[in-house]
This record gives sequence, C-alpha cells and structure tokens, in this order.
Amino acid sequence: MATIVGGIGTTHVPSIGKAIAEMKQNDPYWKPFFKGFDYVHYWLARAKPDVAVVFYNDHGLNFFLDKLPTFAVGAAGEYRSEDEGWGIPVSRPIPGDAALSWHLVNALVADEFDLTTCQEMLIDHAVTIPMALIWPASNPPVKSWPVRIVPIEINTVQHPLPSLARCLKLGRAVGRAVESYPQDLRVVVVGTGGLSHQLDGTRAGFINKEFDKLCLDEIVGNPDSLTRYSIHDWVQLSGSQGVEFLNWMAMRGALTGRVSELNRNYHIPISNTAAATVVYENQKETARKAA
Ligand code: DHB
Ligand code: FE
Repeated sequence: MATIVGGIGTTHVPSIGKAIAEMKQNDPYWKPFFKGFDYVHYWLARAKPDVAVVFYNDHGLNFFLDKLPTFAVGAAGEYRSEDEGWGIPVSRPIPGDAALSWHLVNALVADEFDLTTCQEMLIDHAVTIPMALIWPASNPPVKSWPVRIVPIEINTVQHPLPSLARCLKLGRAVGRAVESYPQDLRVVVVGTGGLSHQLDGTRAGFINKEFDKLCLDEIVGNPDSLTRYSIHDWVQLSGSQGVEFLNWMAMRGALTGRVSELNRNYHIPISNTAAATVVYENQKETARKAA
C-alpha cells in the first residue's frame, strides 16, 4: 500500500526562479531563504518519496477567471509549463503519475468532492518554483526529476473561495485515498504559496508576522482550530494573497497519522511575501503503537 511519508510547505514567489537561474543562493538577500531548504534536502534523502502530491493555486496560466474550478486534479503523464511573463526560465516538463491521479479522482468523487479532472494541465510558478527548490537540478541540469507529481489545484484567486475547513477535508480525503492505493509508493504532500502577502491595492506589501506564527504553530497539532477564520477574516489578517494558505491546509489534512514539525524556516520578505518553509513528518499511528 502507498504510504504518506510527510509534508512540505513552501512559498512559490516567482523571483526565486531568477535567483536560481543567476545562482544567487548565497547572496545576502537570498541566503536566509535558501538555507531553509538544506533540511528539506537532508530529510528527502532519507524519506525517499516516489511521488509528490502538490496542492497549489493556478495564477492564470492554465485556468483563467472565465473558467476557474474550485478543485482540479491533474491526470496527465507529463506536465509542461510556459512563460508567464515573470522573466524567469521555463521549467522543464515534470512527469506525472496518471494511475495514482485516477485513483485519487475516483476516491475523491466517491467522497463527494466534485472535481475537475485535467488530462492536460499547464503548471505555473506555484508548482515549478517549489519543485526547483525542493529538488534542485544538477548543474548543468541533466538529472531527471526524482519524483512524479499529482498536481491538485485549489482556487485561491476568484471569490467565492473554498473555506479552510473544506480544504482541510479535501486534504484528509486525499490522505485516505493515497493510503488505499495498492502500489507500494512513498508519497510526500506539498502545499505551496503563502504565508501573509498582498500584491495589490492600498495594502500592497502587507505582511503579518504574528498571524503567520500563529498559523505555523497551530497547523501542526491543531489544524481544525484555524477553521474558525472565514476567508474574509483571512484576507484581513494575512493579505489578499495570504489565502494561499488554503494549499497548506490541504497538505496538512493529507497527513493522516501523528504529525510533527521537523523543521521551520520563516523569512521576511522574499519579494512581497513572508516566506515559510516547513517539513512535517507523518508517522503511522499503528507504527507508533507497535514501537
Ligand atoms: C509574489 C507572490 C506570489 O504568491 C505570487 O504568486 C506572485 C508573486 C511576490 O511576492 O512577488
Ligand atoms: Fe501566488
């Protein structure tokens, strides 16, 4: 059976792609941010996942405001990206795991989630930047990706958005579905975006360090407590793009066992964003009892 080894949360600010292309990881501006990934790489070398389920929000590359699903699951054999206009290199294609995708789609629809299933789906910076951070390419980039992905899109862009509770439930349903998959796969779940940021309007540049800390503290052991906030509370407390935390709620929901925070890096700002990087371990309850 498939196992969920843990979760990773990370920002997806596009300018990170430029810093990687220009090899600025050790520049004073970037170093405190990139250092946060040393632990991610250390942990992954031990956790050895085969597949990453990536919760993210599309920013207008694959879906636009005219047709924007609340939840969409990729079911492709490969995912390509395209130039979004940020002036960063276009990511190389990332292999998918279509068989696992279809298993998830079947299980989620049976679990009353009305999804959009995408047999073709362009992935934007909210997938490609986290992938480049989590699995950096060798230089020159000849190494193939060490994981296949199942991208799951959540609408954080056009209101009405799904609630925090709904995204937590989606994650829980994904967690159950992964664990009912008969193949012996090791799966890591990734939530991208956040934390507090606002890119537009009179509050552009808004960051809320205290609220971000509360979120990082609560999501590990008590994610349900965060469902007391409405989406409008969240916009007020975390900024209009801080709602990308919905992707983190889904990631946390998919961790089905005993969850512990192995590492946390929080750095302000990267571009306009409070950048958080976390690694959560997911320990099977039965394994714990047996230990
Ligand atoms: C930035 C943050 C985002 O989440 C995004 O999607 C684009 C840009 C930023 O801070 O620059
Ligand atoms: Fe974003």
